[in-house]
Amino acid sequence: MDDRTRVAPPLTPTVAPMTRPAGASAKALARRRRFPTLFYLRQHARRRIPKFGFDATDGGAGTDRGIARNAAALDAIELMPRYGVDDDACNMEVELFGRRYAAPFGVAPMGMPGVVWPGAEKYLARAAQRARVPYTAGTVASSTVEELAALAGDMLWFQLYRISQEDHRYGFDLVKRAQAAGAHVLAITMDVPLRTKRPREVRRGLVLPFRLDARTVWDVISHPAWLVAYREHGLPRFANYARYVENPTPDRLAAFSQRSDQSGGGAFSWDEVKRYRDLWRGPVVLKGIMHPQDAAKAVSLGIDGIQVSNHGGRQVEGLPASIDVLPAIAAEVGARATVLFDSGVRSGLDVVRALALGAKAAFAGKAFLYGLGAIGGEGADYVIDLFKEEVRDSMRQVGIKTVAQAPTIARRHPGAWQF
Ligand SMILES: Cc1cc2nc3c(=O)[nH]c(=O)nc-3n(C[C@H](O)[C@H](O)[C@H](O)COP(=O)(O)O)c2cc1C
Repeated sequence: MDDRTRVAPPLTPTVAPMTRPAGASAKALARRRRFPTLFYLRQHARRRIPKFGFDATDGGAGTDRGIARNAAALDAIELMPRYGVDDDACNMEVELFGRRYAAPFGVAPMGMPGVVWPGAEKYLARAAQRARVPYTAGTVASSTVEELAALAGDMLWFQLYRISQEDHRYGFDLVKRAQAAGAHVLAITMDVPLRTKRPREVRRGLVLPFRLDARTVWDVISHPAWLVAYREHGLPRFANYARYVENPTPDRLAAFSQRSDQSGGGAFSWDEVKRYRDLWRGPVVLKGIMHPQDAAKAVSLGIDGIQVSNHGGRQVEGLPASIDVLPAIAAEVGARATVLFDSGVRSGLDVVRALALGAKAAFAGKAFLYGLGAIGGEGADYVIDLFKEEVRDSMRQVGIKTVAQAPTIARRHPGAWQF
């Protein structure tokens, strides 16, 4: 349950107060004053959305120790600053798989984020397009990949879960749809052999198929902002599956998803990875890699990117923090593939830490949902802007001018895994 977003900065500023951004509206200034970091967004989201929504994003596997470990490991990384750098021209842009992005971070795939804030995917896709950062649409999103493509445009990536029914008929079809819709990168999730138990979700009755009991109804009515958003966007559903289910009511879609889990859902084998690699005409990333030898295997199959991730502590709490295996994987892969990172990113400083340790870009999940929960749709833009500001400030503070210089930052990484 422990998480760095709970640790408020000191009340007495140790540096001069921040200057007001020129031209900012009164509303923007008030928001900035209210939510100077993600800590405050999370705190407010907790009050503003139903308990089931907060626990669905904030809770992890077991006793949330995996989430805490990701946070503690990132916190423990110290970056050594160098001064005397003429840094007026600090440039945050990054090129990933031949496409330029405005900042070295992106939105990780999230299934069913509508539980946290109805319509979440649409707000995130639109905000990513505006800010020119990658947005990863999920297999189990509440909007179809075609709908999200219309909003994310050239910032769209697509994440694939294994849908094992009928020998990949559905998986292949989804991938073809994502490609036709214009997704640039296919991210194959490797780390969900099964849907593990998240106790805080279970306690809130968030098990498929969803049932509205009296407690849930009360939870909703007592959070009116969420209720308004719900009236606009409806309940989350497995939108991408609608084509594969006759008369696709939410219950039938949930049943399709469950049948998939029961019929072996789960982890892709290396043979299957190769089949999807051959099917996708563009860059393929494997998401959820933790062991350097798995990364090496992926590269040998022609995979273009490795997303080092422990699923943000949501699958098993006993895994290493993913930041602690990042350097070994980056060393193993070298220039043969692009290394990406997620799990525990709560600030632009965390992004820069990941860059220093060998990632080309970092992704975040929960951070964006805290923003949506606290502010509503505009929260997606807010968190992206907050991260951009923090990445820029951290880069200038440690004395680098481009993201390519990040690996040159001297650092101490006490938890780094040696294989
Ligand atoms: C609500 C929620 C839903 C998620 N759903 C998916 C998913 O459908 N597919 C997937 O590959 N990862 C999923 N993830 C994991 C994220 O892609 C990412 O690995 C993780 O959130 C990173 O950790 P962070 O939340 O600490 O940033 C989900 C995460 C959250 C918080």
